[in-house]
Amino acid sequence: MDAGKSVDERAGALLGQMTLDEKIGEMAQIEKNAIDARTSAAFNVGSILSGGGGYPDPNTPQAWYDMVKSYQDAALGTRLGIPILYGVDAVHGHNNVAGATMFPQNVGIGATNDPALAQQVCAATAAEMNATGVRWDFGPVVAVPQDIRWGRTFEGYGERTDQVATLGAACIKGLQGSGLGADDTSAATAKHFIGDGGTAFGSSTSSGPNGPYLLDQGVDQVDEATLLKLFLPPYRSAIDAGARIVMVSYSSTTAGKVHGDRHLITDILKGQLGFIGFVLSDWGGVDQVVPGNYSASLEQGINAGIDMVMVPTDYVRFITTVKSGVQAGTIEQERIDDAVRRILRVKFEMGLFEKPMPAAGKASDVGADAHRAIARTAVAQSAVLLKTSGNLLPITSGRKVLLAGQGADDIGIQSGGWTITWQGSEGEITRGTTLRAALAARLGGNLAFDRNGAFPTGTKAEVGIVVVAERPYAEGVGDSSTLQLPDNDVAVIAKVRPLVKSLVVVVMSGRPVILGDVASADAIVEAWLPGTEASGLTDVLLGDKPFVGTTPYTWPKAPADAPRSGKAPCDGAVYPVGYGLDSTSKLLGPPAC
Ligand code: GLC
Repeated sequence: MDAGKSVDERAGALLGQMTLDEKIGEMAQIEKNAIDARTSAAFNVGSILSGGGGYPDPNTPQAWYDMVKSYQDAALGTRLGIPILYGVDAVHGHNNVAGATMFPQNVGIGATNDPALAQQVCAATAAEMNATGVRWDFGPVVAVPQDIRWGRTFEGYGERTDQVATLGAACIKGLQGSGLGADDTSAATAKHFIGDGGTAFGSSTSSGPNGPYLLDQGVDQVDEATLLKLFLPPYRSAIDAGARIVMVSYSSTTAGKVHGDRHLITDILKGQLGFIGFVLSDWGGVDQVVPGNYSASLEQGINAGIDMVMVPTDYVRFITTVKSGVQAGTIEQERIDDAVRRILRVKFEMGLFEKPMPAAGKASDVGADAHRAIARTAVAQSAVLLKTSGNLLPITSGRKVLLAGQGADDIGIQSGGWTITWQGSEGEITRGTTLRAALAARLGGNLAFDRNGAFPTGTKAEVGIVVVAERPYAEGVGDSSTLQLPDNDVAVIAKVRPLVKSLVVVVMSGRPVILGDVASADAIVEAWLPGTEASGLTDVLLGDKPFVGTTPYTWPKAPADAPRSGKAPCDGAVYPVGYGLDSTSKLLGPPAC
């Protein structure tokens, strides 16, 4: 407990006092619904997580803080009093928390291509996390998605390795602030190592709540040189930015599951890149290494270099299986010691032994106006103007506007997956500003809204705005073979078209989609998944701010054109990566294909 000693000295001294049970417990990360505080302490569990939607009831900042503190207090009461690390997925704000600021999903941050803004967004996220007692974020995703049919495309910053490396490092600096020792910071997690966004269409053998996945958790069918060239640089940048935690990918390479790959985890990440932090497995990911054989899976995963296992529920089976492995000699004792030392080093570095909980009483930071203002700026900078004509944009005030489309008036749709719940959902799931509310605030009586475009007979207006949107999804649930927008949404375009002189279509999606009838609009704005602050869209539509966004993913002509690695920018593309216009039709990047 001597804070004057180095992190290494302190970790070593503590490790030397730990029993095997305490060491194995330290390597366990258990989901909060699977274990209560007392039991967590009894098994010396080192980490607790909230999975997607793992909020307390009520879902308030105070209830979150009390929940985290209950586990922490129990941990501090154990023989050695080793504090826990509590982790959440805060991937576009502290998104499990009702009333939190939901920032644009990473695809939108990629469209801004603004590292300083990415850092600000993640710093605000850390502040909202701290207000709920949480100091560990399972983010940023530093995937480099190569096929936008993947359901996690929106979690990525884009298809260009260097852009992802830059934005990922910026977010890590935002989360970790001036240094992990300050209690108003959060430990970042660079994820998912390695090649999560490089899997081949149809190569997945996993399934989710709606059936089999197509790409998610599939196989990267490229050679190692290509794999490392495409996907390793963001981890080098993450480590340079101070990342102390890396989460392993569910996906496989041609050599097998990454969760069991010692060459990638130990030789490359820990050896070649010199990663001194700890490696966390994904939710039940280690179980997939040797299907049907838990002990072999655990042995291979831990020997491969996994230091902490996101079990996430059956902690008794985990602890007894690892203990048997150590006693049988199939899991080396020094591997256990190395794993625990790495975990303890991070906990010491974060000052958890001195300050096991961040300051209380900061509930008002959650959803604070200052954070919402940052989100609004990010939304405005993320909007990509794909097409416009004449002086249609910006829409000058005084003109009558018809607004239609469910996505124009639905916080859940504009936020996307990983919002309040794992998959997200339509409807008024949290506090925020819809595009309808934002436009109404500016246009007043000049705005008429009908979700289905069914305006009173004879209605006419100069401008129509129709919102078409993907409905929320997360992970493999969002794997798509069609990249289609909902037919009902697109049908609204035809209803509004005859009523207006000019038609603007706003697309809310986690990735480029097949435009179809949308292409007939006079102007097309890709808004991605803006989160709770849609006023940012009004800022650019009405000309308070310029359009500056550029697409971080190639816009494919057809779904079969989606795989991008090795292709020329306009090969099978409508718009190349980096394309965007300002409202005067000036190119902000390469021209349309
Ligand atoms: C999920 C995701 C991972 C997330 C973890 C905990 O399955 O793959 O990104 O951090 O489980 O929610």
